[in-house]
Amino acid sequence: MYQSEIIGCGMYVPPGVVTNHDLSKIMETSHDWIVQRSGIEERRWVSPDVTTTDLALKAAEEAIANANIDKKEIDCIIFAHISPDHDFPGNACFLQPKLGLTEIPAIDVRQQCSGFIYSMSIADAFIKTGQYKTILVIGAEIHSKGLDKSTRGRDVAVLFGDGAGAIIMRRTEVNDPLKDSFVYSTHLFSEGQNAKELWIPAPGMALGPNRMDHEMIEANQHFPFMNGKKVFANAVRRLCECTMLALDKNKLKLEDIDLFLFHQANMRINQMVAQELKIPEDKVFNTIQKYGNTTAATIPIGMAEAVKAGKLKKGSLVASAVFGSGFTWASSVYRW
Ligand SMILES: CC(C)(COP(=O)(O)OP(=O)(O)OC[C@H]1O[C@@H](n2cnc3c(N)ncnc32)[C@H](O)[C@@H]1OP(=O)(O)O)[C@@H](O)C(=O)NCCC(=O)NCCS
Repeated sequence: MYQSEIIGCGMYVPPGVVTNHDLSKIMETSHDWIVQRSGIEERRWVSPDVTTTDLALKAAEEAIANANIDKKEIDCIIFAHISPDHDFPGNACFLQPKLGLTEIPAIDVRQQCSGFIYSMSIADAFIKTGQYKTILVIGAEIHSKGLDKSTRGRDVAVLFGDGAGAIIMRRTEVNDPLKDSFVYSTHLFSEGQNAKELWIPAPGMALGPNRMDHEMIEANQHFPFMNGKKVFANAVRRLCECTMLALDKNKLKLEDIDLFLFHQANMRINQMVAQELKIPEDKVFNTIQKYGNTTAATIPIGMAEAVKAGKLKKGSLVASAVFGSGFTWASSVYRW
């Protein structure tokens, strides 16, 4: 059977750095509160004319160059995000012509913070069945345009940032499963009973005759609502669970893993997961200090930064786990 291999990665964050001190000038918050509760020191925000697919294009171009392929070899695009350029069609369709590609399938995946591992899983399945050979998998987000930046929205607004990451996944044949680079497995979960614990209510077809009205805007329904404590507790529990499940399925022990790349929602969540699983701190790679939570982009940004930092090398065995709105969560083990 075919397997899939990650052959290149790339990332892009917009140049606009927004520090915690900058935020404290527009809402009632402080650097110390944000760092103590989340570990975030700064994040990036785009300028008003920039779109999510603009960020994605730059990350995709870097991934294509890093994989050393001709972009025409890409036979499918899978784009994870919750920040569409427009209501429809999806971001993958807007990105395709920007990349100069045509006719290949352009698919959006809407699984919030879990979207990138869900997308890797879909790409892996396509490649295993032989349907596609070289897939561009992207996670890209603009949050800064959709946050309530007043004190009323501070619990959410301080956590999120803009950015993009991308990988190229390609068909490979595995001769030595202990040495060759390939995706060992992916594991996907969701629990829709908790959909409204972290969500944006409006606009929506569930909301009367016009999807959105002035009352909804005045009630702030077009901004994210989060039950922070419930999200936090579930994130720690599910990240631990699905990391261990991915290891068990592959008969691996924690010591076999060279690098843990977890979703970047809150540094304290990742510290608690590492503590609970007894993972040494230097095996967990975090980027949240610099970029905040970029939802579907955190994992590919982490990959690209870990490569640049020399922490992720050819042959490294990696475990990734993600958790987000839905609730959704997912994990994967792969050899780089
Ligand atoms: C959001 C989060 C950091 C809040 O931390 P917390 O310890 O639960 O804090 P609380 O909600 O209890 O708030 C404590 C106080 O700080 C205030 N506060 C909230 N946001 C604030 C901010 N940005 N700056 C200053 N004070 C803030 C609250 O109003 C509250 O004040 P009160 O005690 O007077 O009512 C935390 O719940 C969290 O990280 N949750 C998970 C978020 C997440 O991972 N989301 C993405 C999932 S993919």
